[in-house]
Amino acid sequence: MDALDRARALLSEVEQAKLASAAEAEAFRLRFLGSKNELKELMALIKTLSGEDKKKLGQWVNTIKQQAEEKYRQAMQQLRALEETPLPADLTRPGWPHALGSRHPVSVVREQMTDIFLRLGFAIATGPEIEDDWHNFTALNMPEDHPARDMTDTFYLRRNPDLMLRSQTSNVQIRIMQRQKPPIRIIAPGRVYRNETITYKSHVFFHQIEGLYVDEQVSFADLKQTILYFVREFFGADYACRIRPSYFPFTEISAEVDIRRPGSDQWLEIMGCGMVHPEVLRNCSIDPDRYSGFAFGMGIERPAMLKYGISDIRLLYENDVRFLRQFASA
Ligand code: DAH
Repeated sequence: MDALDRARALLSEVEQAKLASAAEAEAFRLRFLGSKNELKELMALIKTLSGEDKKKLGQWVNTIKQQAEEKYRQAMQQLRALEETPLPADLTRPGWPHALGSRHPVSVVREQMTDIFLRLGFAIATGPEIEDDWHNFTALNMPEDHPARDMTDTFYLRRNPDLMLRSQTSNVQIRIMQRQKPPIRIIAPGRVYRNETITYKSHVFFHQIEGLYVDEQVSFADLKQTILYFVREFFGADYACRIRPSYFPFTEISAEVDIRRPGSDQWLEIMGCGMVHPEVLRNCSIDPDRYSGFAFGMGIERPAMLKYGISDIRLLYENDVRFLRQFASA
């Protein structure tokens, strides 16, 4: 191969060289532009050529050198630019998870409770949280100066002192009996308010479930059976349950229900109940000689705390997700 053929071959090598990485670029530089490059070797052959060919070879070598320089310059520019661009986002990387909320333990327990009564044929009823004196107290046999009002002191509206935040879901008993005639079989879950000091066991609001069953010949035995069924379903058959006499103005006879967890010697009160007072039926235009009924009311927080071993009621209202999340699968 003579020097000119060799020049032609070198040019095509320069054109076809791939300079995709820093290493390839450096090899290229050493080969064509370095201190001992192949162009110099080619140039050394010039003495083997005669006049016209010497000139041609000089031109070839110049062309190859220019091409090599230009190719190297462009490659380095591209490599540097690549280095500076941030890596494109990794499209295969999993996305950030959306934080999912969980149901509040009070909602979870409220639903467990209502489910049990729904199975017994009770329907769900609701009533207002801002209530007038008559529905919250008077119609429930607690006239204005009745001492029992003290037990459930609540918050009144400054602009209309006849209105208050209801202190009990018993107001729903009155609202339902006013507009619906027996048979009536409802439960009313909802929020109630009390003017109480906030401690580990009491708060200015909490939740109750009220029950009311009015029909002909409803008896205390019906009440007892309903409550025993509830305790067994909600707490479990291994819990002991006792019903002891008590007093509420809106029931006659009145009772309270205590439960005792297996292995414990402590009775814990969970609800008040009784036979609807004839005066309360009369206040709602229901004839007490024809109809009788039972009613019960219980808090939701206390059984929830018993069931899940929560020792401070305030935890339920702080909405700390680390606390709330524990009940996500309850
Ligand atoms: N309303 C009562 C309270 O808040 C609970 C209660 C007791 C409701 C007896 C009733 C009942 O329906 O019959 O303390």
